[in-house]
Amino acid sequence: MAASGSDALVLFGVTGDLAHKMIFPALYAMVKRGHLNVPIVGVALPEWSLERLHRRVTDSLKRSGGIDNRSAFQHLLSLFKYVSGDYKDPNTFTAIMSALNKARRPAHYLAIPPSLFETVIKELGAAKLAEHARVIVEKPFGRDLASAKELNEVARSVFPEDSIFRIDHYLGKEAIMNILYFRFANSFLEPIWNRNYVSSVQITLSEDFGVQDRGPFYESAGCLRDVIENHLFQLVALLAMEPPSDRDFGAVQREKANVFRAMRPLTRDDLVRGQYAGYRKEPGVANNSDVETFCALRLFIDSWRWAGVPWYLRSGKYLADTATEILVELKAPPQRLFADSAPETGRTNYLRFRLSPSAAIALAARVKLAGKEFVGEQRELFLLEEQPGEETPYERLLGDAMIGDGALFTREDAVEAAWAVVDPVLRTHHRVRPYRRGTWGPKEADTIIASDGGWHNPGPKEASG
Ligand code: BG6
Repeated sequence: MAASGSDALVLFGVTGDLAHKMIFPALYAMVKRGHLNVPIVGVALPEWSLERLHRRVTDSLKRSGGIDNRSAFQHLLSLFKYVSGDYKDPNTFTAIMSALNKARRPAHYLAIPPSLFETVIKELGAAKLAEHARVIVEKPFGRDLASAKELNEVARSVFPEDSIFRIDHYLGKEAIMNILYFRFANSFLEPIWNRNYVSSVQITLSEDFGVQDRGPFYESAGCLRDVIENHLFQLVALLAMEPPSDRDFGAVQREKANVFRAMRPLTRDDLVRGQYAGYRKEPGVANNSDVETFCALRLFIDSWRWAGVPWYLRSGKYLADTATEILVELKAPPQRLFADSAPETGRTNYLRFRLSPSAAIALAARVKLAGKEFVGEQRELFLLEEQPGEETPYERLLGDAMIGDGALFTREDAVEAAWAVVDPVLRTHHRVRPYRRGTWGPKEADTIIASDGGWHNPGPKEASG
């Protein structure tokens, strides 16, 4: 399909949570920037009036930063239409067709429970709503390797691959795009960016809140499926990938998929699963649930560049802080010329990527302290310190999908290769370990990284050192 702009947006799940929290604010921002001026057909089961939908949109905007541009707001409301209907009923799709009126190249956004993806995609095909159209699919894309393959098959039977946009909102974050830029816009990194100089890499995505009102979703997903297999794996791919041959984003996608292919499938001892105290009392959660709200794991990438380097990933709800950070730790100097130049405790030189809440890239190196003795300390040189970008990830990604730019989306082969890594531990794993809220998870998580200096716990605030 020619990369022309979509001439309508069909939003499945318009009465749901995701639309309320993320998508309406993104649409409003796009209208304010003059990036959105096509009909938006909202679809959902409840029999709502258009006024009711307008109230929902208004409420969403008020909660997410307010309405600061009345004419953009009015314009956004005027773009909406509403179709009520069951996703299994072909009449719903006939109604969508007539709501689309003259639009011929719609983008269908599936902001609905994953269990409904296949049904909607098939119905779109049957109703001839897929021709010249795009489909935007929310995560999780499948719940294991087999279901991801099946979903890919269904999607590919209806849409060509370059019309399928699998969203991982992490890829729309400014600080994460900067990893790709930083790695390949500099030459000083390349000689050390491998197993000869890097001793380990660790990534933490921590949140100081619980599952909130998403108990039932969490029961069907768990932390491994919710954030590790997608968000954190995407970070690993950007950090570990080989240089793409050119700026063609197909080349970037290929190199990222190669990282997943080279990852060693996880075994049960690579993984520590935890569950915060009180999770079983959350609404919608089973009172004997074994679902993890915390996950720590060690993985290896069996490639020329990374053979033998451990990658540690950790994420959890109700941890001590909310922050996402990467630490790439370098090996100690080969000879200990100074008593403290290869500290037995504490960190060797490292590169630290702070991704949220604020963004930073810091390079830590030792410098001598003034005085007669040859002793020093490690200092961080800040290469970047900034607040999140102007465009939210959803605004960025939705805009990209609607013009057919798939650079920041996940491709079929990468999705399947990533599932293949976690598939073994989805079925065979140790029971969850309980942990207290406000801590860094169960103590067993410390054991897997003990030989590599332990976890680096990101602080709540960024501070240049
Ligand atoms: C979502 C997960 O994909 O990512 C949530 O479903 C998680 O559980 C969120 O809280 C984290 O995203 P961000 O952008 O807030 O770091």
